[in-house]
Amino acid sequence: MGKEAKITIHPSFTIGEISERLFSTFLEPIGTMVNGTMYNPKHPTADDLGFRTDFINGLKDTGMPACRLPGGNFVSGWNWKDSIGPKDQRKVHLDPAWYQYITNEVGHDEYLQWAERVGTESMYTINLGTGTMQDAMDIVEYTNHKGGTWWSDLRRKNGHEEPYGVKTWFLGNEMDGPWQLGSWEKDPRGYGVFSNEVSKLIKWIDPTIETAVCGSSAPFMAHFPDWDEEVLTQCYESVDYLSIHHYHSAPPGDLKALLGGALYYEDFINTEVALCDLIAAKCRTPKKVMISFDEYGAMVRPNAELNPGYGPHNMYRAHYRFNPERQYILHDPDNMKHFCFPGGDMIHALSMASIQLAFLRHADRVKIGCMTGGLGALCASDHDHVWKSASYYVFSQLLKYARGTSMQVDVNSDTYDIPGYAIDDNSQYPTKEGVPYIDAACAWSKEDRSLNLFIINRSEEDEYNIKIDAQAFTGYNFVEHVELHSDDFDAKNTYEAPETIIPKVVAHTDENGTIRHAETTPISKIGNTEVVGVSTVFRNGLLDTSVKPLSWNLIRFERESDELTFEDLLKGNHNEVV
Ligand code: AHR
Repeated sequence: MGKEAKITIHPSFTIGEISERLFSTFLEPIGTMVNGTMYNPKHPTADDLGFRTDFINGLKDTGMPACRLPGGNFVSGWNWKDSIGPKDQRKVHLDPAWYQYITNEVGHDEYLQWAERVGTESMYTINLGTGTMQDAMDIVEYTNHKGGTWWSDLRRKNGHEEPYGVKTWFLGNEMDGPWQLGSWEKDPRGYGVFSNEVSKLIKWIDPTIETAVCGSSAPFMAHFPDWDEEVLTQCYESVDYLSIHHYHSAPPGDLKALLGGALYYEDFINTEVALCDLIAAKCRTPKKVMISFDEYGAMVRPNAELNPGYGPHNMYRAHYRFNPERQYILHDPDNMKHFCFPGGDMIHALSMASIQLAFLRHADRVKIGCMTGGLGALCASDHDHVWKSASYYVFSQLLKYARGTSMQVDVNSDTYDIPGYAIDDNSQYPTKEGVPYIDAACAWSKEDRSLNLFIINRSEEDEYNIKIDAQAFTGYNFVEHVELHSDDFDAKNTYEAPETIIPKVVAHTDENGTIRHAETTPISKIGNTEVVGVSTVFRNGLLDTSVKPLSWNLIRFERESDELTFEDLLKGNHNEVV
């Protein structure tokens, strides 16, 4: 016997339009993400620029909307001007952020051309650590101006006749972090003023662009949210997004804390949105600055010993840069260590998905979301191959079905509490009460008449019987319930065993008692799609189904005809058309 939960959705309860870029990715030359995975001229599938086309093709199929590239700490010391033109004339530099040599074999043009080959939009991070205002102007002119100037003609000479048309520009990376090269940690006002000027300048170079200014790199930062407030005060009118990051950590074995991480994300988003609106009020402007959550993740981390010698928020204590043993590494793209997609199991997929559902619930203000490791989630790889991980199925379903308007979901389920915990001196989590075991979000696309519900069961032990009340969506039929689940939480797909975790359709009984997996397909015609448990019944807008412990579930409804308008639904004029 499972536990009981109820979900209600209603056409009047809207949150906001889901931005096409809500589920994007992030790329930085660390680990094997650039050297080895994106770029390896010795790979059998390498193209003329040395890009692995197996990886490109894997990503192409997902419809990944955009990628923030390059980004991360690396950018804050990177001189893009040394990375363009003939490869044998490019300059090799040290990257003190990650103790690596930057050979610039993959440079400014290659990043943008890789994105073109994937068919995804580039969102670009400007170096505002060691970079100057002039560099910022030049990079936009090189990248986006048609021609007839030194920089734009240089781009044409370097092989890209047409402007790249990069629309979104990030004004630095984590500029509040003491670990950042050229950090502005101690001078939020200075960074705000600098960003204001850069943003104005580059918009004068290309008036079609938009900019994102850095907020705090985590809600743990001692200066959060004051730092963000000071920055926004200086540049609110000239920027479009507040760029924030967060990596959630939970101690090993504490799945409740890991999967409840989304609630800390929601607190962070709520505070930043309130802050943006506070500054808007002070500026007497109707303009709303949106949130770009352009790095996020969730991980298991052992508790570190708390260090009594430092203050509770001191970022220096554990920081990698103070390891005197550390050596600079020269990466060989064909011989990289750790050639493997980290994560990829059910727990990884669920912890990231839970954050993504939180973004969906804040779709009115979170307009950009870039998953760290998102490229690996969408296309897992090793030195030789690519395959689909559990994360792929979740992420690509969101890309396909989280469209249109984000809808409020009223969830009535058991809850649990996460007692406050500290991973280290910095990552300190206050107690979180009332985390629902059933985590849900919903998207309604009026254009294609689809209504899609995403559900995670956070419980390790209990299956939940869920009653879904969609009665107010008159005329909508149940299409399918697809679940992703594995009894073995450590199981992963590999190149050799790519179908260890794959989505399965939950069979359902229709009003005549016929077992079906979709509204129009009797079970006998399912072919080789695996169907699990006949546990779903749909009648009169009420769906009874069940979700397994630690599972991901996509529940789809569709309306066949257009005869009922959106306005009818809102006005409650449904009855005559049923
Ligand atoms: O993704 C790893 C790092 O995490 C990025 O370089 C930085 O922006 C963040 O601190």
